Amino acid sequence: MFDVYETRKKYPILNGIKMEGHNLVYMDSGATALKPQCVIDKVVEYYSEYSTNTHRGDYPLAHRADEEYEKVRKIVKEFINCNDENEIVYTYGTTHSINVLAHGIKHMLKKGDVVLISEFEHASNVLPWFRLKDEIGIEIEYVKLDEKHHLTPELFKESMHDGVKLVCLAHISNVLGQCLDIKEIAKITHDYNAIIAVDGAQSVPHIKVDVKDLDIDFLSFSAHKFGGPTGIGVLYGKYDLLNKLEAYNLGGGMNTRIECNTCYFIKEAPFKFEAGTPAIEATIGMGKAIQFIMDIGMDNIHEHIKKIRKHAIDRLQNELPEVIIYNPENEGAPLAFNVKGYEGARCQDIGSALATYGIAVRTGEHCAKLLPNLIGTKGSVRASLYLYNTIEDMDCLVDALKDIVAKEKENKGDALSWLL
Ligand code: ALA
Repeated sequence: MFDVYETRKKYPILNGIKMEGHNLVYMDSGATALKPQCVIDKVVEYYSEYSTNTHRGDYPLAHRADEEYEKVRKIVKEFINCNDENEIVYTYGTTHSINVLAHGIKHMLKKGDVVLISEFEHASNVLPWFRLKDEIGIEIEYVKLDEKHHLTPELFKESMHDGVKLVCLAHISNVLGQCLDIKEIAKITHDYNAIIAVDGAQSVPHIKVDVKDLDIDFLSFSAHKFGGPTGIGVLYGKYDLLNKLEAYNLGGGMNTRIECNTCYFIKEAPFKFEAGTPAIEATIGMGKAIQFIMDIGMDNIHEHIKKIRKHAIDRLQNELPEVIIYNPENEGAPLAFNVKGYEGARCQDIGSALATYGIAVRTGEHCAKLLPNLIGTKGSVRASLYLYNTIEDMDCLVDALKDIVAKEKENKGDALSWLL
């Protein structure tokens, strides 16, 4: 049975760290999640006990580093249920994974081929494809969405045609939080002989993502969004497809032979994508973070977040007509809203005001810079939740917003002057 209060004890930052004199209410996990002690310990253990390089040393300490580092591929394999640990490429995070994919797949695309994305994508799942448009003349198209900015399998089907070669979508958008029916979307994609690449940055930390069940061709995600270290992530690919990608980074560890006549031979996936000394401690920490959330249970995490999110939405809708919520019906962890009169860039003032109550949120465009076309504002406040947030945190957010709105009414014409 998942007990959020027991779980919170495992996060040092939630036990004693104050912000603006208040206990920290952390609601910025969409940007990066807090780290449990076991992950911190695992990183410190590497640095304290066997901080050698990997795949390079023939002495016991280096063997330990190799073992710990490679063991993580098996942990990831189990986590996402892929066929083989060699389908797991270590990257620096989701952004890097998508860039590795975009560079690697370039030779399989040609002028006029369509890459299908959405207007709710993070910049990381837009710009690498825009660059391919400049480089080789692919076309970018956007999926159709309904009036609530949702993508249904029916609308996806309407967006598909024979020219689409690659579909790149966020499983859960980082602002609106809709969880796509990727299984159905993948089926439709494959009916058109296209490839589907899923940005799992916001889904992998929150729900069970089973790449075999969903029949995903490529999946990208970052460890830091589920409590692992920063600077480490994964690009998963079905092996034959993955091995066809061309490597961008050339160097040590990814080649088998180099000759003076400029001939060189490279390894097979995943190693051909892993040139240079990797983020060893971060990789080992990622393994620990995965074990930690798997022990809690992905279903428990999802159910918990759904429950506390609903509590906040119910209260906001009933008690604060001054707040516009952009995604009340979605189940994902981000909760995007604005206080009326504080839309656009002024949402930052609300973020700063919330900070004075000890509440950490993100404000602005959240790197989803096409989204204003959909929601009609260039900025919003995003409270993004994770397994350590409580009903009390939600109450804190709503009560603080009520207080801010009340103070605003008292200070009309002199916006947020009470903050100064
Ligand atoms: N991609 C992260 C976010 O959505 C940084 O905040």
